[in-house]
Amino acid sequence: MRLQPVHSFIPLLFGVASASVTVWGTGAQKALTAATTSGAAAANYTGAAAYNPTILNPPPIPSPGPGNFDIQLETAAPAGVSIPLAGSFFGFSVEFSVANQVLGKNSSLLQVPFLNLMANLIQRGGEVHVRVGGNTQDTASLVDYTIPNGADLTKDYSNTQNPTATPPLVYNRDILTMMNNIASLINIKWYLGIPFNETANFRLQIAEVGQQILGNKLIGLQVGNEPDLYSRHGHRDADYGPAGYTADFGLMVQALAADSAVTNPNMLIGPNLAGQWAPEEVWDTGFATTYSSSISALAVEHYPTDNCAATFGIGAAVDPQTVFPDFLNHTSGRDIVRPYVNSTAYAQTLQKPFIMFETNTASCGGFAGISDAFGAALWGADYGLQMAYSNFSGALFHVGGQSVFYNPFTPPPTNQSSFHQWTIGPIYYSALVVAETIGKSGKAQILDLDANGGNEFTPAYAVYENGQPVRIALFNYITDPSGASSYTATISIGSATPGQVKVKYLSAESVSQKGNYTWAGQTFGGNFGSDGRLTGDLDIKTVACSGGTCQVQVPAPSIALVFLTDDALTDSDGGPTQTFATTLHTKAHNTVQVDASVLATSNGHKAFANIGGSTSQGQSRSGAFSMAQTLPSITALIGIAAGSLLISRTMAR
Ligand SMILES: *[C@@H]1O[C@H](CO)[C@@H](O)[C@H](O)[C@H]1NC(C)=O
Ligand SMILES: *[C@@H]1O[C@H](CO)[C@@H](O)[C@H](O)[C@H]1NC(C)=O
Ligand SMILES: *[C@@H]1O[C@H](CO)[C@@H](O)[C@H](O)[C@H]1NC(C)=O
Ligand SMILES: *[C@@H]1O[C@H](CO)[C@@H](O)[C@H](O)[C@H]1NC(C)=O
Ligand SMILES: *[C@@H]1O[C@H](CO)[C@@H](O)[C@H](O)[C@H]1NC(C)=O
Ligand SMILES: *[C@@H]1O[C@H](CO)[C@@H](O)[C@H](O)[C@H]1NC(C)=O
Ligand SMILES: *[C@@H]1O[C@H](CO)[C@@H](O)[C@H](O)[C@H]1NC(C)=O
Ligand SMILES: *[C@@H]1O[C@H](CO)[C@@H](O)[C@H](O)[C@H]1NC(C)=O
Repeated sequence: MRLQPVHSFIPLLFGVASASVTVWGTGAQKALTAATTSGAAAANYTGAAAYNPTILNPPPIPSPGPGNFDIQLETAAPAGVSIPLAGSFFGFSVEFSVANQVLGKNSSLLQVPFLNLMANLIQRGGEVHVRVGGNTQDTASLVDYTIPNGADLTKDYSNTQNPTATPPLVYNRDILTMMNNIASLINIKWYLGIPFNETANFRLQIAEVGQQILGNKLIGLQVGNEPDLYSRHGHRDADYGPAGYTADFGLMVQALAADSAVTNPNMLIGPNLAGQWAPEEVWDTGFATTYSSSISALAVEHYPTDNCAATFGIGAAVDPQTVFPDFLNHTSGRDIVRPYVNSTAYAQTLQKPFIMFETNTASCGGFAGISDAFGAALWGADYGLQMAYSNFSGALFHVGGQSVFYNPFTPPPTNQSSFHQWTIGPIYYSALVVAETIGKSGKAQILDLDANGGNEFTPAYAVYENGQPVRIALFNYITDPSGASSYTATISIGSATPGQVKVKYLSAESVSQKGNYTWAGQTFGGNFGSDGRLTGDLDIKTVACSGGTCQVQVPAPSIALVFLTDDALTDSDGGPTQTFATTLHTKAHNTVQVDASVLATSNGHKAFANIGGSTSQGQSRSGAFSMAQTLPSITALIGIAAGSLLISRTMAR
């Protein structure tokens, strides 16, 4: 049993985009100190990627500037709006190997910040979808022995079969129980993946046990993860192609049909391509029609570029400063989505959802100074809304652990969990913005307005519900402290222009800024700064309209989300989020005490706030978190100010 962290990756032999993978042993992790942000420190920084202090220069201010422009909407949804979308559109993909750091250690030790982060999104979008999988799903095996230290997941160092030299994962049933316990507290739905590294000996246990334990909280099972990279990774012969995948998928369909322990064989998701094969090549094999009744969704995975040269010395080196501008305009998301637009139309003809199953700024961990800076929040929201407009049904942004730059959220190394909190990345802010832009009606239809004559620095989207415009998202990608690149959008809706609109801003001083971004005045702070709850005072601007127009300022840089009606605002964020207090699990006298049976039956509703409980040293941190005052009994449960990241569900009251 090794106790040191092991960063291992499935190498990309030819530098193409694919997810990086970090596998931790069950032991201690590398020590880190809070990062500073000076350039000197960045140059010599040797800590984990997730806290890299590199700050790039914002791209130059474009000339001419964006100018002001008009947005004139009709009181009817125009041609070209998307299919109706759910507020769960923007979800997450958690690499299987880091699930026990992100979700919890085991079924009795859940990560409270994760619960809070998901609860924030559920409050806004109604539900959140999380995939647990990735490259590591393909060689993972369910075991029925006890994994040391109470863990649910570890690497099998004795197995050296894997051609990538990454020891495969072993996990136990308890990881599924942990996922079910989370889903019993908050409205989260899960995707899993069935190992597909070989077809002669399918390991179907994750389908069997996943369905048994998760029931209707499990909404799909991936078959194959990036099968177009399988030959490259040694999982298939060199000539493996789309027809081979379709044939292998058929073997999986047969195997599941023959397995009486699988209660629902018809929730399969494919082809999950990395981008080596065009999706059309798979459709041409008859994949989606032949196996239509077994398929619950069509999916792809995509990273627009990679940082494999820096991470593994594979492929051409990419200079982050040089490519930073490539992420900071509307062309970026449009370029990523374009190859899939035929396929989203095809999926509609089959009445299947089309999902971006794994994505982020760049594979092999993303880029220091890009993936972890404010610009990525703008990029993620624009790209997410571009997928929405283009008739994707959902998009899952990848979470990879300590060794990547692009995490939406990163738990501290385990041996620092008693004094450090989580680090919330820019992509999580994108998720908040997209959840509120779409809202929870389930009827939202998105339109790319091609605003400002198609200026790529100032995109805008309108959202329609029941044919009426309800929200407008306005972007400004430019960094310009002088204020000269801010713009005013003059919004009108004919005779239906409202008397006033409400506006929430996603703000930072620069696209290069790390941490401390604000959404409607609230933030998750900087590195190690958050327990998953927004802090600070909520600041929603009211803009009075006159003469049939509403003038909304959009600073450079920012996103302004304009709510055209009060209902549009309450539908996106109707009040306090159910949150969970954190406490220090490593010191029993400070551990929050919750009756496990009460917690287990609280069922994700605000009833959790009414659960009794006590702390032996009841130092309330009332007011420390913005939501604390709305959940007084939760506040009373909090043990100590430093906060830890695990809540014990097993302590007796
Ligand atoms: C965390 O674990 C690492 C590796 O075992 C060790 O070097 C470091 O001192 C530990 N840090 C703390 C704060 O305990
Ligand atoms: C990095 O560390 C080396 C050795 O300590 C030092 O000479 C160098 O000046 C440092 N570089 C920066 C940019 O601080
Ligand atoms: C598939 O993964 C399993 C479990 O890690 C491993 O034992 C097996 O050798 C792998 N098969 C191939 C063909 O790589
Ligand atoms: C979870 O881990 C803790 C700490 O190692 C251990 O005491 C507990 O028994 C574990 N719970 C389960 C269900 O494995
Ligand atoms: C906008 O992004 C695209 C693709 O990401 C890039 O090719 C282009 O150079 C960018 N435009 C500017 C002005 O930087
Ligand atoms: C989409 O389909 C059209 C018409 O069949 C075709 O011309 C175009 O090349 C396709 N686009 C892509 C990206 O495959
Ligand atoms: C999305 O689907 C709708 C309904 O089928 C269609 O009208 C619209 O053109 C599609 N949008 C894109 C970008 O393909
Ligand atoms: C975030 O704000 C806090 C409080 O103002 C400050 O201490 C911290 O240095 C800031 N962090 C960053 C990364 O700017």
